Amino acid sequence: MADCPSNSSPIIRDVIAARASRRAFLSGAASLGALAAGSGFVGSFFAEESFAASATSSLGFSELKRVYDKDMAVAPGYTAEVVARWGDPIAADVADFSGEVPSAAEQLVRFGYNCDYIAFMPLPKGSATADHGLLCVNNEYISPNVIFDGMTEDDAGKMMTQEQVDFGMAAMGHSIVEVKIENGRWAMVKDSPFNRRLTVETKMQLSGPVAGHDLVKTKEDPQGLTVKGTNYNCGGGVTPWGTVLTCEEGASDTFGGSTAGSPIAAVLDRYGFDGSDLYGRARFHDRFDMDKEPNEPNRFDWVVEIDPYDPQSTPIKRTALGRMSHEASTVVHNKDGRIVVYMGDDDYFEYTYRFVTEAAFDPAQPETAKDILDKGVLSVARFDTDGTLHWLPLVHGQGPLTAENGFASQADVLLKTRLAADAVGATPMDRPEDFETNPVTGRVYAVMTKNKKREQDKLNPANTRPENLWGHIVELIPPGGRGKDADHTAEVYQWDLFVLAGNPKDEATKASFHPETSENGWFVCPDNISFDPQGRLWVATDGANDFGLPDGIYGIDTEGPARGLPKLLFTCPAGAEATGPCFTPDGKTLFVSVQHPAEDAETLDKATTLWPDFNGKLPRPSVVAIRRQDGAAVGV
Ligand code: FEO
Ligand code: CA
Ligand code: CA
Repeated sequence: MADCPSNSSPIIRDVIAARASRRAFLSGAASLGALAAGSGFVGSFFAEESFAASATSSLGFSELKRVYDKDMAVAPGYTAEVVARWGDPIAADVADFSGEVPSAAEQLVRFGYNCDYIAFMPLPKGSATADHGLLCVNNEYISPNVIFDGMTEDDAGKMMTQEQVDFGMAAMGHSIVEVKIENGRWAMVKDSPFNRRLTVETKMQLSGPVAGHDLVKTKEDPQGLTVKGTNYNCGGGVTPWGTVLTCEEGASDTFGGSTAGSPIAAVLDRYGFDGSDLYGRARFHDRFDMDKEPNEPNRFDWVVEIDPYDPQSTPIKRTALGRMSHEASTVVHNKDGRIVVYMGDDDYFEYTYRFVTEAAFDPAQPETAKDILDKGVLSVARFDTDGTLHWLPLVHGQGPLTAENGFASQADVLLKTRLAADAVGATPMDRPEDFETNPVTGRVYAVMTKNKKREQDKLNPANTRPENLWGHIVELIPPGGRGKDADHTAEVYQWDLFVLAGNPKDEATKASFHPETSENGWFVCPDNISFDPQGRLWVATDGANDFGLPDGIYGIDTEGPARGLPKLLFTCPAGAEATGPCFTPDGKTLFVSVQHPAEDAETLDKATTLWPDFNGKLPRPSVVAIRRQDGAAVGV
């Protein structure tokens, strides 16, 4: 594939024309370490070089053949073993999964549904232990059509009984379970004191500028400081002080009623609160009915900090990080000590965000971490045609973010984050999902899953394809140098397009991968990502089923001659997406969440797979551990 898709759109022509000035910029900017060292990055959208003509991937495995199947599959020489299934008991006196849907009360002591983001937190805390730790796993949502008899996805919200609704509330949220390698395979420690479920009933604290604001006060919480629970937890991140950030995405689906009674109805409309009540909560729980509790929606769609090492700890909603359909919250400890969090807002035409703390974190003084995420500057990205990226601060009183424009305070800016980003002129993206930083190069990778709604006249430099059904990956390039030398607090970065997903043989897709990409290697709908310790990117996909393909996990070099050359490692069973890829510190285990198996079936009796048990009647979303049979690191 050529270095640039041969798209005739004016946007692309502008980008091509801008290359000359960008190259002039780069040649005069030798101190931009990562860029000056750019010979390792062939296949830049902005550079003259195309992808290398021939390449040897740094990934040594034999690629998996891609087959849509009832079972998962992994490349030759690897094993994929189920570690934690929905419904598995996580307390000593709880029986094994019976094959029936647990009661709501029972579900509270069982692993949650639709596993998503995974953090592996070593035991003991602070160590680099790779065979013993805590799995901290989001449970994003439930799939009623393959849990309950006789319900479709569309009618479940109206049909579910209170017991079923309450089961759903108990099955979503977050699961923390101790795991270790025993007798050569990963297993849960059923009676661990660390095991814990966090749900939409778990007490949580609101912190940062929005805490105590009138718009987060409710009948149950007149102070606006204490929230019941977390909701629709999707992506996440890990802090250097050993906490987990869980991202609330899409609370709108869990509310019924109308926004009309809200003082910020237009804001709620912008956040998609259409009263859809997909899980039936509003019929039984007043706080999910916006007509009865108009401020309850404002208490969700934040980043929540959890201390998994203290089962008694109260999770904290860090409002300074903004309100959005939170995806990634990827944390960098910058060279000056400040903490940087990159975040995506996963919706059509939403934005790319960054938060930089005011204070520095010093690992030698752990107390410097306390509430460090409550003060700092939230910014949003504008991607320019010349390959520069500007971080635009969302700070009350700066630029258009003033009272006369409807932003009365910083809390107001945060409650209306999307509107603030509109006002400063951020670049609308193709559904920003996961972001991660390459530990070797310091470049940040931002995944755009897809955007079927993108029209020709809405193209922009970083979103170049109309009706983008396939997704793409954007590189954010901080100045300062490679790895830890990169300055993640700078106002101006460079950016590039890494790959444009799709079938490279189908010219209509304008896909762009390395030219040696195999028939099994190209992918669509990149979603969650992770880096291994050697700096290779691993991409989990969500949406391949629409193309008759299984979702799966692909490894891909980001520099050197094989830059942009993906290889298929793992495929999910029918109807499932791959989410939450997470390596142990030694790179020898890759944990993956297999989310919503069989969800493509209209109703449970038509389930397309009963993975992973293949008995009874229920498919079970599960966390899988992928390892090499010879015990070496994944992908060596
Ligand atoms: Fe929960 Fe953006 O996927
Ligand atoms: Ca996802
Ligand atoms: Ca990730």
